[in-house]
Amino acid sequence: MTERLKIEHLYKVFTDRPAQALTMLQAGKTKSEVQQALGQVVGLDDVSLSVPSGAMYMIMGLSGSGKSTLARCINRLNEPSAGKILLDDEDICTLDEAGLREVRRKRISMVFQHFALLPNRRVIENVEFGLKLRGVSAKQRRARAEEVLNVVGLARWAYHMPHELSGGMRQRVGLARALATDADTLIMDEAFSALDPLIRTEMQDELLRLQRTLNKTILFITHDFQEALKLGTRIAIMSEGRLVREGTPQSIVLEPGSDYVAAFTREVDRARLFDAGSVMTSLVTVVSGPGGVLKGDVSGRPGPGFLLDSEERILGTVTAAEIEQARDSGLLPRPDTRFTCVRADTRLVDVAGRCTTDQAIGVVDDAGRLIGRLEAGQILARIGAHGAVGARHV
Ligand SMILES: Nc1ncnc2c1ncn2[C@@H]1O[C@H](COP(=O)(O)OP(=O)(O)O)[C@@H](O)[C@H]1O
Ligand SMILES: [Mg+2]
Repeated sequence: MTERLKIEHLYKVFTDRPAQALTMLQAGKTKSEVQQALGQVVGLDDVSLSVPSGAMYMIMGLSGSGKSTLARCINRLNEPSAGKILLDDEDICTLDEAGLREVRRKRISMVFQHFALLPNRRVIENVEFGLKLRGVSAKQRRARAEEVLNVVGLARWAYHMPHELSGGMRQRVGLARALATDADTLIMDEAFSALDPLIRTEMQDELLRLQRTLNKTILFITHDFQEALKLGTRIAIMSEGRLVREGTPQSIVLEPGSDYVAAFTREVDRARLFDAGSVMTSLVTVVSGPGGVLKGDVSGRPGPGFLLDSEERILGTVTAAEIEQARDSGLLPRPDTRFTCVRADTRLVDVAGRCTTDQAIGVVDDAGRLIGRLEAGQILARIGAHGAVGARHV
């Protein structure tokens, strides 16, 4: 996958003369140590990350951890103190005024938490605003604005005034405005944080739905770990201006790497986060013959296996003892034809409902071919107690 945005060793100190603070940070001093010694506020401390094209990339952290500073550095509303910001391999930090204007108008759109609509302009004019700045003709602007209002479900409200809209709808207008510009990178800074829980969930679902067809690169900033898990393909977690953990939602929950990150993961509903494919044991062929293919795990986790037809579809289950016998004799056992199977992308919460105590569950792909085995114990282990933290690091 290509990288849309790459950030390399980015620092931001809120001062005109960051040299001394940078020296301290590079020597390993923290944000609070710099603040104490110099009275200067550190926004970002050596942040490096890379956002693949088409990703829904989450920046998560407590209030004051530097998320907005990072967002604002990317289109240079904040001037970085050191480091590089590569947008499609071009360093934004070296752009002149004209180049910067181009980036802000055409390549990166921002959606903020408190989205300011022009109160005296109709909804559709608000959406057109960015296009007007870009010099798009009135007719084209209108057509494009109607299109994106339709996309965010506000077509009916195009000619209303902003004050007639609810908070959630106004936020949708903000999203429509960002989408209208055709910028392929979207930065959403706490874009849903001020919304009521219900409308917020609705907007999250809407964004996921939109993203399937838009395929933009989205940098989504939130202080809500649940939101990050729900939306993110990757999550970067910030603390005190530093990036302390980065990875897929699942990997972060499995291995937080620090108490700070573990604290966020404690409330997570693991049964919804993990799917069958992420927990299953893969199986190997033990014996194959004209009557079928016997698959089991004869090394790592001995246990029941499956007899499959020539298309790798399940005919039935076979016990561990029968697998051993078949291995010695080379003969296929007669399978127990009662079995349960689930698709690899089934959430564990849904698998759990189908679990019987001792029966193995077959995990199958879209075509119904067996790809692994799942047992109740594995499911419980994954959704149950949290592993020891501390011992593992990033
Ligand atoms: N313009 C500014 N001048 C001085 N300090 C600032 C400025 N903007 C942000 N900060 C400080 O930078 C740190 C990070 O802030 P911010 O990026 O807004 O955090 P977040 O978005 O994660 O809540 C905080 O300590 C904040 O007080
Ligand atoms: Mg912020």
